[in-house]
Amino acid sequence: MFDTMTLTKATGAVCGSLLVYLFASWAADALYSTAPASHGGEEVAQAYTIDTGAEAPAEAVEEGPSFAEVFAAADPAAGEKVFGKCKACHKIDGSDSTGPHLNGVVNRAAASVGGFGYSDGMKAVTEPWTPEHLDAFLTNPKGLVAGTKMGFAGLPKVQDRANVIAYLATLQ
Ligand code: HEC
Repeated sequence: MFDTMTLTKATGAVCGSLLVYLFASWAADALYSTAPASHGGEEVAQAYTIDTGAEAPAEAVEEGPSFAEVFAAADPAAGEKVFGKCKACHKIDGSDSTGPHLNGVVNRAAASVGGFGYSDGMKAVTEPWTPEHLDAFLTNPKGLVAGTKMGFAGLPKVQDRANVIAYLATLQ
């Protein structure tokens, strides 16, 4: 059973920690309170505001040079390197593999390689592969051609797209 001494110690311990807690919260209040009362009744401005952009007016998306501008100065040699990402599926010797061959693909009608099993989505494309159309396709293949079986995420950089299209244009 508890004797008096144990009880006294326990009570002391509890009171002690309560006191510590009280002091700590007074100290915290004194240090951090921004309530007007603790600052001589003046409203305290926040030191800084984190801009979440929530109230900012919709700004125009920062746009770089257009595809046409970049394409006009595109570098086929650099495009050949970019084409390394396509090689796994596309040959340029006139034969097909996972994807159809890309010889003469610039300005070629879409889904026009005989004997290649295109997806229904690709067969539904009516516009030929102009540089601009290729640019849109290579930016986001699945976004432009719903249901395409080209398993490629796309080339996010306009410079890469322009260069690879310039390279494709050299393949006849
Ligand atoms: C993982 C394999 C794969 C990769 C990587 C890939 N493709 Fe394809 N590509 C395909 C397939 C499969 C098709 C046929 C799509 C369909 O029928 O929906 C295709 C279709 C195309 C077409 C349409 C051809 C036509 O005859 O209409 C073009 C253009 C094309 N790819 C260009 C590229 C370029 C350029 C790259 C590299 C930047 C690339 N692809 C990377 C698999 C791939």
